[in-house]
Formats: sequence, C-alpha cells, structure tokens
Amino acid sequence: MLKIGVLVSGNGSNLQAIIDRIEAGELQAEISIVISDREDAYALKRAARHGIENMYIDPGKFREKREYEGKLVQVLKERGVELVIMAGFMRLLGPYFIREFHQRVMNIHPSLLPSFPGLRPQLQALEHGVKVSGCTVHFADEGMDTGPIILQGAVPVYDDDTEETLSARILEKEHQIYPEAIKLYSEGRLKIEGRKVRIL
Ligand code: GRF
Repeated sequence: MLKIGVLVSGNGSNLQAIIDRIEAGELQAEISIVISDREDAYALKRAARHGIENMYIDPGKFREKREYEGKLVQVLKERGVELVIMAGFMRLLGPYFIREFHQRVMNIHPSLLPSFPGLRPQLQALEHGVKVSGCTVHFADEGMDTGPIILQGAVPVYDDDTEETLSARILEKEHQIYPEAIKLYSEGRLKIEGRKVRIL
C-alpha cells in the first residue's frame, strides 16, 4: 500500500479530495501524516476528522530553511512515507528536501504550466485575457512550478469571471486530477523521461 505524506498550508480541499477517493476504495494509498506550516490550517482539522495523524511544524522555530526541511524529512521518513504530496502548501521546497525525495514529490498548481507560475495564477490568467486555463499536477523539482508535468486539466474562462469564480472552477478540476495522478503513481504507471512523464 502506497504511503503518502501530505504537506498543507490552508483549507485542504485537495487533501479532502484525496481522502474521499481513498475512503471510496478508488485510490489504493494510505495517508501516513499531514504536516502544515500554518497552525490554523483547516486542513489539519480535516485530517483529524478522518483519524489521520497530523501536525503543525513551525518553520519559525528553525534558524535555517535546511533545518526546517530536515525536520520535515525526518517526520516523513519515520512514518515510511514514499510519496510526498504538496496540497495547497505555499512554500518552495529546497534542494535538500527534493534530493531526499527524488522524483517522489508532487505538486498541484492552478494554471496550465508553464503559463502563469508563482502566485495568484488565476488572476494572472484573467489579466492576460486567456480563454482557457486550468491546473497542472507535476513532480516538484528545485524550481518553482517547473518539474515534469504529470496531468493537466483545462477549464473555460468566461468574460465575467472574477479571480474567485475562476479559482472555484479550477479547484473542481484539481480535485479530479490530483487523486488521478496519485493513482497512476500507485500503479507504477508514471515514467519520467527527462522533462516528460510518460503514462504507461
Ligand atoms: C489550490 O488552488 C491549489 O492549487 C493551490 O492552493 C489552493 C488551495 O488548495 N496550491 P487547498 O484547498 O488547500 O488544497
């Protein structure tokens, strides 16, 4: 059974989508731990409600980013985590963490990468005037939103969209493709070939 660790910072709707698919028997995986960098993250309450171990690790308690990531790696490895899922986690994981979990960290970004990396991609899309946007699940590398792309989901952008309405539409698509990407991984069907990910 694939053991996953989930890193969160906020609401945890992607975490919830993954929990729901596991509990529905559609995703053969086990969430061993949920770790938040924010004490008030609602995602922690979602984990607790489903009896999933969860903890707040305060980055401010560590002098260096490397020390903070060392703690994350220790907690994850102690629980036998094989795949790390960044789900609304708002920090950039550094070289140390990425090396420790080489090609075993996934992230979801609410745009069709490589368009609109970084912050508030939904607003970037609206301001650019695109007609289609969406979300991307990718393996995290040392860059920001730059790792090999696993799955993407597209949504229409309407003239009267706001950042909120577009974000909500994209979020629905996120909740579909993130569990699907983890399922493919759990079935050993993802083959990374340089920049590309082939689905076997
Ligand atoms: C989502 O749009 C996700 O793509 C981004 O953070 C937002 C909130 O995610 N990374 P969640 O509800 O906390 O899973």
